Amino acid sequence: MSLHEAERMKSIPFSSIRTVLEEVDRLKAAGREVVPFHIGRPDFDTPEHIKAAAKRAIDQGLTAYTSNYGLMELRQAIAETLAQDNALHVDPAKQIIVTVGANEAVLLAMLATLNPDDEVLVPDPMWLHYFYCARLAGAHVVSVPLRAEDGWQLDPAALARRITPRTRMIILNSPHNPTGVVYPRETFDAIAELVDRHNLLLLSDEIYQKLRYEGVPHISPAAIPRIAERTITVDGFSKTYAMTGWRLGYVVAAPELIDSMIRVHQYTTVCATSFAQAGAVAALRGPQECVQVMVDEFDQRRRIVVDGFADLPGALVVPQGAFYAFVRVPAGRTSAEWARYLLDAHGVATVPGSAFGAAGEGYIRISYACGRRDVERGTALIREALRGG
Ligand SMILES: Cc1ncc(COP(=O)(O)O)c(C=O)c1O
Repeated sequence: MSLHEAERMKSIPFSSIRTVLEEVDRLKAAGREVVPFHIGRPDFDTPEHIKAAAKRAIDQGLTAYTSNYGLMELRQAIAETLAQDNALHVDPAKQIIVTVGANEAVLLAMLATLNPDDEVLVPDPMWLHYFYCARLAGAHVVSVPLRAEDGWQLDPAALARRITPRTRMIILNSPHNPTGVVYPRETFDAIAELVDRHNLLLLSDEIYQKLRYEGVPHISPAAIPRIAERTITVDGFSKTYAMTGWRLGYVVAAPELIDSMIRVHQYTTVCATSFAQAGAVAALRGPQECVQVMVDEFDQRRRIVVDGFADLPGALVVPQGAFYAFVRVPAGRTSAEWARYLLDAHGVATVPGSAFGAAGEGYIRISYACGRRDVERGTALIREALRGG
């Protein structure tokens, strides 16, 4: 008997970020010191009151399946937070599903709404999961190249030029992985016009919304009335509350869309982990100072990175959100070769820009979500390596 792989898997590679992770683990096991600029994972532990709430939930027997939609108390807390922070008013009974990370939320949204051969407009570079979740749904990804010369901002006219009768969905992620750029209101307004005019869906991944610097505002496109019904909002607890391992996120959409997504969720994950959801209630309803402490620390590290590259003109566009900087590397080596060289010769792990799409070639992504000493050391090492060409 031969072992068969489904046709759809042939265009789904192993995640290149995961490949770097495994390589770094191998080096560390061999005793090498490595600056972990490759992982988009806060180095903080989950705040104590969140952990305590989950422990209490286990002790009190919250160990069975929850509703497929998630604990009602958590959905209520999410709805209250959205109303307060994002001017979004949603029905927690009909418009929210608690998911296993924002990852699952993206997949649910795509499997539930895309037909084979639908086209999905994805800015490039972009978090690679969108490309592959869209392909898993049988859809075609149409890249919308971003340019460092434009400050990595998304040009709505470039999006508009790629809209065809097959276009079904636009993906937005602001603050943006991997560039750290935040889109201004005008961008959202222009995109809202396109979504409305062409009857599209908008998937807005807002997982980094709390990680912003220099006072830049966050816009939730679902709060723009003309596209409220056509916008699917994705968020999660991983980045804001240092809860990556808890695997908790959520998706918010019109009841009709949630009706489709819940059927995917029912037949795959069923529900997110019960007692982890109790922790998430504490995250949203508890004190928020812990978030500010983390954001302030990320901001300090961001400044170290920005100052570190200040004497290399054009090396980076100053990031205003998330915890990433997208650094230009000299021609002569591909971004994958640069990443390999930085790891082998200098002990700094980064992700090649090409992992985020063709337009990311010529750049590497660094994540400053690691300790301050690592941020200082890694920045200095990369600067010296880039200077040497
Ligand atoms: C843009 C973006 N969305 C979603 C996620 C996934 O988050 P979660 O841990 O909630 O699945 C990530 C993780 O790196 C991300 O960068």
